Amino acid sequence: MSAVREHFGSRLGFILAAAGSAVGIGNLVAFPVAATKSGGGAFLLMYALFVFFICLPVMMAELAMGRRADKDPVGAYRQLSGGSRGWSIPGWMALATPFMIAVFYLVVTVWVLGYLIETLRGNLDLLATEAHFGQFINSPVVFLYLVVLMVAINGILAMGVKDGIERAAKTLMPMLFVMLLGLVLFVLTRENAMLGVKYYLIPDFGKIDSAVVSKAMAQAFFSLSLGMGIMITYGSYMKKRDSIPGSSRAVAITDTLVAFTAGLLILPSIFHFDPQIDPSELSDSSAGMIFLFLPKIFLSLQDSVGYFGASAFAAAFFFLVLVAAITSLVSIIEVPIATLRDERGMSRRKAIYTIAAVQFVLAIGCAVSFGMVNFFTQFVQLAGADKSFFDLVEIIFYDTILPLNGLLVCLFVIYKWKKANFDQELQEGDSTFTGSVSQKYINFSLGTFIPLLLLLIFINTVALKFF
Ligand code: PHE
Repeated sequence: MSAVREHFGSRLGFILAAAGSAVGIGNLVAFPVAATKSGGGAFLLMYALFVFFICLPVMMAELAMGRRADKDPVGAYRQLSGGSRGWSIPGWMALATPFMIAVFYLVVTVWVLGYLIETLRGNLDLLATEAHFGQFINSPVVFLYLVVLMVAINGILAMGVKDGIERAAKTLMPMLFVMLLGLVLFVLTRENAMLGVKYYLIPDFGKIDSAVVSKAMAQAFFSLSLGMGIMITYGSYMKKRDSIPGSSRAVAITDTLVAFTAGLLILPSIFHFDPQIDPSELSDSSAGMIFLFLPKIFLSLQDSVGYFGASAFAAAFFFLVLVAAITSLVSIIEVPIATLRDERGMSRRKAIYTIAAVQFVLAIGCAVSFGMVNFFTQFVQLAGADKSFFDLVEIIFYDTILPLNGLLVCLFVIYKWKKANFDQELQEGDSTFTGSVSQKYINFSLGTFIPLLLLLIFINTVALKFF
């Protein structure tokens, strides 16, 4: 075991690394589509309320747990519960969840990489055809891209917390902000762009029902990388002198701003493509949007900026998504690495090789569940479900276990680890915290309505997806 735990070098470094985790495919694609289909400005408002009043306290709870224990999620639950066996279960869940979500996310990111390369090779017209996606995900080149991506991510991780994760975030995140703004400015000058902006922003409160509320909540939770042990792990790399409440707010604001801005990119592009479009017909699935719909939209830009211009735009977009996904993947794969190091005393390098090997096999399983060998699909179908392995990973881990993990964090911090200890940790690096309104709100909400809301969401998803 390494004698001294590595820490993020600076407060900004932590904020960018955590924002790098939070900003992902969820922000760039899932959020704009969800907002558009579910009441525009009304959804945005509700989402923002969820981020700041529900998710932010959970983020602080996770960070505080990690920093106090100075450990990975499994170690943090064990240590802060005084070695309770029962409480080690949520610790293991906070390890299994990121592990499986990483596999699923890895596969989508591999496809993004593939689409970027195809675009750069001048094949945007091919990507815009209906049949291409099916052919692409079944072609062996996907394995090559998987290797390339895993080498890049594990390369960053191998350099450690400060020189790897933090440095990558410091380089990639500003680049992401600038590129996103550049693309938005370009797209806003296109014909009919304003129709898209209007559709995105004008509130339609009539669309808000319980399913939409639950969707907004789940989206906010996922977007802030909660319930996956990530913030517990990153908290353990935070310095005591940095403020948890202040840094969390900065991360939440950045994440929300990026999601909001992504809408100003996606919606105007869609309305430029077809001003008559009915956005409520858009696909719910991010993968469907990225790989089936958006290439057509990008190609249509050729009428005004030529094929080369359209390809450049598409390449910039895929690159943006790739960067966002890589910084998210780095954070999520760091969780099992931290566990192997803290719990098994492995060196960083050995932990990386171990995790990468298992993830490689699972990612291939997930990737092929779309066709090719079809082994996993058959396997799962034999078990009576008409879902692919890919679908199952999403439903079990993302839809169901995430809110459950969040619920357990709230209950643990307030009722087991205890408010006084939690407050004390938040007070470190933030001398104005004790006695503030935000302290009172955080303590009250984490012990009452936040876990209740997460429980309702959990029950709702279980009822919808499994019965
Ligand atoms: N916050 C990420 C997103 O919005 C979610 C995520 C984080 C996924 C880390 C995987 C790993 O896409």
